[in-house]
Amino acid sequence: MQLISGQYKIQDVDLVSLTKEFGSPLYVYNAEKIIHQLKTLKMAFSGSDVKIKYAAKALTNLSVLKLLRAHGSDVDVVSIEEAQLALRAGFKPAQIMFTPSGVDFSEIVEGVNLHLTINLDNLSALEKFGQKYHNTYPCSIRLNPHIMAGGNYKISTGHSNSKFGISVFQLPDIHDVVRKHNLRINGLHIHTGSDITESEVFLKMADILFGVARDFTDLRFIDFGSGFKVAYKDGDIVTNVYDLGLKLTKAFNEFCQSYGRKLELHFEPGKFIVSEAGLLLAKVTVVKSTPSLTFVGINSGLNHLLRPMMYDAWHDIVNISNATGSQKLYTIVGYICETDTFGSDRKLHEVREGDILAIKNAGAYGYSMSSNYNSRLRPAEVMILNGQARLVREREKLEDLWKNQPDIDIAF
Ligand code: LLP
Repeated sequence: MQLISGQYKIQDVDLVSLTKEFGSPLYVYNAEKIIHQLKTLKMAFSGSDVKIKYAAKALTNLSVLKLLRAHGSDVDVVSIEEAQLALRAGFKPAQIMFTPSGVDFSEIVEGVNLHLTINLDNLSALEKFGQKYHNTYPCSIRLNPHIMAGGNYKISTGHSNSKFGISVFQLPDIHDVVRKHNLRINGLHIHTGSDITESEVFLKMADILFGVARDFTDLRFIDFGSGFKVAYKDGDIVTNVYDLGLKLTKAFNEFCQSYGRKLELHFEPGKFIVSEAGLLLAKVTVVKSTPSLTFVGINSGLNHLLRPMMYDAWHDIVNISNATGSQKLYTIVGYICETDTFGSDRKLHEVREGDILAIKNAGAYGYSMSSNYNSRLRPAEVMILNGQARLVREREKLEDLWKNQPDIDIAF
């Protein structure tokens, strides 16, 4: 968002006015920023045949999926429900990578029936897959490289105690199953975690993947997952995707040469694509001074944006109703009946009841991790596209809280 003559705007659309038109709280996504991020990644890795498989879990709004599809993204899904959303958004099955984690085998069968690219993350599923499909349907394998990486333990997925992937130390077991069932392994995949700043982590993954890949003759792609770190506040260290792009594509192309065939280089970014494109706008319901602090209460909470409470994540907060007033320290809290803090000791231009606060970096894992906790309704979502604010999801209604609950007779 930009501050222009005292008003915060995205693509010339005034954000405070949006809350008057669509109500608050409100998720707002900047389509231009989403496209910019997609293009940046494609450019950074253009030295190889790169395919960007947007990690739908970050933000599954159909219009966002459609926007990304229209601009040449593929998609990564982790459930059949996400796959169905991707299909509804117009992705072709061949564009959809299905990486479920420890699901019932029937869900993997559904994935095959939908003609998705299947990525398996445990030996049990690989064995069942082999028994059912032999070499009639290819699959990819998710490896656990035993690398500790990622912004915090909860979002680190490649270490030895993580539930994800098949350990690289179980490679002989993988080969046994593959041989026994004559399986066609079309891809290898590693995702070590979210919020990775160092290029070296990806290069270490490359070493492991290339070492393993030599023994699989049917590969079509190698997937490096994601983990690109974006800025959550000024001065944050981020993944330098251009530096990584140069180093990784060089190593990848050299590997392809020795492998004897050109492979596709896959990534599955979520945060990189949508985090910075999203804002959560909420109204100040109360300003409450205590002997020690001044709390700002807003009409939202951890039910709408879980990240601060779940990961101690920092999200910048701006008072978009008061661009120039004097600054004070505030602790911004939600309306949920438990500790529900968006940010402590934040310097904001003077906050008055009724003001609108913008919580930044709310595009990734914001709406998609929201809930009805405290029986609160989920916000509406708006996408700013070609200079126009478009409603892309209606605000939930009271009926949504009980529509799936049969009204049974309670006899005493
Ligand atoms: N690929 C796989 C297999 C994944 O598990 C994930 C994220 C991604 C790609 C996308 O990662 P990203 O580009 O967004 O870092 N809710 C947490 C993040 C959990 C990520 C789960 N997997 C958060 O809000 O920080």
